[in-house]
Amino acid sequence: MKLKMHRYEEIWLICGSSLLVIFMLLTGYQTFALGMGPPSHSETIDPQQVDRTAPFDKPGVNKIGDAEYEVVMTLEAFSFTPAEIEIPAGSTVHFILTSKDVAHGFEVAGTNVNAMVMPGYIQKITQKFGKAGEYLIVCNEYCGAGHQYMNTIIKVV
Ligand code: CUA
Repeated sequence: MKLKMHRYEEIWLICGSSLLVIFMLLTGYQTFALGMGPPSHSETIDPQQVDRTAPFDKPGVNKIGDAEYEVVMTLEAFSFTPAEIEIPAGSTVHFILTSKDVAHGFEVAGTNVNAMVMPGYIQKITQKFGKAGEYLIVCNEYCGAGHQYMNTIIKVV
């Protein structure tokens, strides 16, 4: 007995699989040719040795250029170090983050910055702060009993 496929079923099946292939090619092209892939956790660190590993042995705000800053920050239950950051309006900030214990979140309210900070990995995010104001940094990854108190502020002056 020959299995007879309905004509329309055949057409839609071809349409569906072609679209799948097109989207896969498109995603691959964006990821590899245009470099639009999600940031990969390529840099690792021993979470037990954070305090003794550069640059995390000196957390803080460093001016690295004209209106360009580097913020080296460690996260642990339930705080961010350095706790308070002040930068001039119009600055571009390169955050370099790692966790000393469990997975934390790093979300800067009012911006697109929203990342997970895992122990053992170095997370890097760049953000420009155009407008003056106070930007709230919150941990948005449940990390224990004090999770809801884990926050700090970036002052853009
Ligand atoms: Cu750290 Cu929630």
